Amino acid sequence: MAILVTGGAGYIGSHTVLYLKEQGEDVIVLDDLSKGHHDALMGTGLYRGTVGDKKLLDSIFTNHRIDAVIHFAASSLVGESVNDPLTFYENNVTETCCLLQKMNEHHVKHIVFSSTAAVYGEPKFIPIQEKDETMPANPYGETKHAVEKMLHWSDQAYGIKSISLRYFNAAGADPLGRIGEDHKPESHLIPIVLEVALGQREFVKIFGNDYNTDDGTCVRDYIHVMDLAQAHYLAVQKLKKTNESTIYNLGNGQGFSVKQVVDACRNVTGLFIGSKPAPRRGGDPATLIASSEKARDELDWLPQYPELETMVSHAWNWHRHHKNGFNR
Ligand code: UFG
Repeated sequence: MAILVTGGAGYIGSHTVLYLKEQGEDVIVLDDLSKGHHDALMGTGLYRGTVGDKKLLDSIFTNHRIDAVIHFAASSLVGESVNDPLTFYENNVTETCCLLQKMNEHHVKHIVFSSTAAVYGEPKFIPIQEKDETMPANPYGETKHAVEKMLHWSDQAYGIKSISLRYFNAAGADPLGRIGEDHKPESHLIPIVLEVALGQREFVKIFGNDYNTDDGTCVRDYIHVMDLAQAHYLAVQKLKKTNESTIYNLGNGQGFSVKQVVDACRNVTGLFIGSKPAPRRGGDPATLIASSEKARDELDWLPQYPELETMVSHAWNWHRHHKNGFNR
């Protein structure tokens, strides 16, 4: 039996594909390569297309014995979602609807869904628990929340069982340096800071220094991408064992400010990294820290790389050897 990974050529998707293969799983990837990279697949079989392509889904589910889907394919930049919400609804909600329809038709009843801390919006309590109120503050979070709801009702109606994984801030790269993070244009903090270290940018802009945090900059819970990958594998196993739908937060339960991240990058690289204060970025909550007790208890999830410096050093190892990312 095989696992279909949609969006498997993206950052978290490709690390999960690598992890699954290392566990001996048979993996098939569906990705339109609009953001992902073929080289990130390291030879895993790829169907190039979108999850909204019903004919393609029919042929994938007919040609392979698939018993679970891990669904990453989505538009994911918060800022873009504010400027173009309808594209996000189409890519993230409408296309997921096609995927679920085809899963149901082909009797594939297990799905692990790539959700996000953005479903919580500005949290009332820290650390955030799964039972806390969800109040997305941007269209990206809304679309992920809408899919969580769609999964709930698809369980009731069709018996499709799902685990939604709400990631906090994914960071790091394959510890062996085979694959890493490559967004174009880059928008995430750690790769941006490392681009400054490499001389590819002059300085990092620190978006807001008047938040209600110890040093005034935003605090986030960084989680190693391979630890996220491990959680996806465990979630598939859990669905097969218990056949129950649920939701888990995935983070380390420890917060680091933007300034602390820049300092960690200076320590790891040993290089000067310039930074300048800049206005707040719209829609950024001051602090996001996960309680991941539920995932630890129920999935037996044990992050292997909880230290921020380890995440930064794995990212640095990738970036300094791949200055142009996957482009050779
Ligand atoms: N930041 C800067 N300067 C930069 C880039 C980022 O100061 O050049 C700050 C941001 O304002 C934020 C922190 O660094 O406070 C982290 O920003 P990222 O863009 O790396 O990550 P986000 O916390 O914005 O986003 C992540 C995921 C999203 C998800 C979100 C949930 O990447 O997919 O968490 O809130 F929606």
